Amino acid sequence: AMLAATTMACAEFPDKPVTLVVPFAAGGPSDKIARDLAEALRKPLGQTVIVDNAGGAGGTIGSAKVARATPDGYTLLVHHIGMATAPALYRKLAYKVPDDFETLGLINEAPSVLIGKPTLAAKNFGELRQWIASNGGKVNLANAGLGSASHLCGLMFQSALKTSMTPVPYKGTAPAMTDLIGGQVDVMCEQATNAVPQIEGKKVKVYGVTSLQRLSLPALKDAPTLSEAGLKDFNVQVWHGLYAPRGTPPAVLAKLNAALRVALKDPDLIKREEALGLTVVTDERLDPAGHRKYLEAEKTRWSKVIKDAGEYAD
Ligand code: MLT
Repeated sequence: AMLAATTMACAEFPDKPVTLVVPFAAGGPSDKIARDLAEALRKPLGQTVIVDNAGGAGGTIGSAKVARATPDGYTLLVHHIGMATAPALYRKLAYKVPDDFETLGLINEAPSVLIGKPTLAAKNFGELRQWIASNGGKVNLANAGLGSASHLCGLMFQSALKTSMTPVPYKGTAPAMTDLIGGQVDVMCEQATNAVPQIEGKKVKVYGVTSLQRLSLPALKDAPTLSEAGLKDFNVQVWHGLYAPRGTPPAVLAKLNAALRVALKDPDLIKREEALGLTVVTDERLDPAGHRKYLEAEKTRWSKVIKDAGEYAD
């Protein structure tokens, strides 16, 4: 009977709205990416797709919510590199990576940008580096909580400068951006997705990009890479992926993966995201097993980097 019921449910899936949980506050890069994806999934799924922002603790609260959700395909997680870093940062994490999730496919990759409050005197990275060297601990470095992409980039930035600053955590980088523009915090390492519009609006100062090549986007064409500016080989790319709770029926996973493949070929989504510095993945990175292997490799890689950077938390 159980098997029959599951088979029935899979055949009709989805016959009610699908929820994409974003483990950060609305208005940030992950939220933007999730809303783009929700829009593009509507047609291939033939259903309403809604976004639920469940922020806090660097993305681990929203991720735990999905890990314990009913594995029926109606509650999915849009998350990023934080899936790979949280296990090294939280000794008491409420879920296992990748064990408690089904990987559905990667979505895109984005470089980050080192940005500062508009009143910061430093006109370029060299001056910023000097200012940080003489103000170190007093410099407020905003992030979206332990395990967030901005936290990871900040951690790499501090260990590259061999200077620790004062981290100021938020439920997402949208509220952090508001405080940066208002001057309540000094610097942040933010994904281009969210930073580009503020840079175009001249609301923040740009000191460098975290990719190894400069970006051709108009807003960032004059921004040096942090690597060329002095932080040799500094390279932080933030990828986003789609996840379901472990135990979601394979037939449902297959439908979701098929819909993801269609959604990420949507020309409007690709155009919009490329204008923000994002690279939408192509088919070979949309294989669930490949995504799982990539997630495990990233978890191993970043846990070593985090240990070397000497920061733990609970
Ligand atoms: C967000 O959407 O707020 C960001 O992805 C947070 C982060 O990871 O820095």
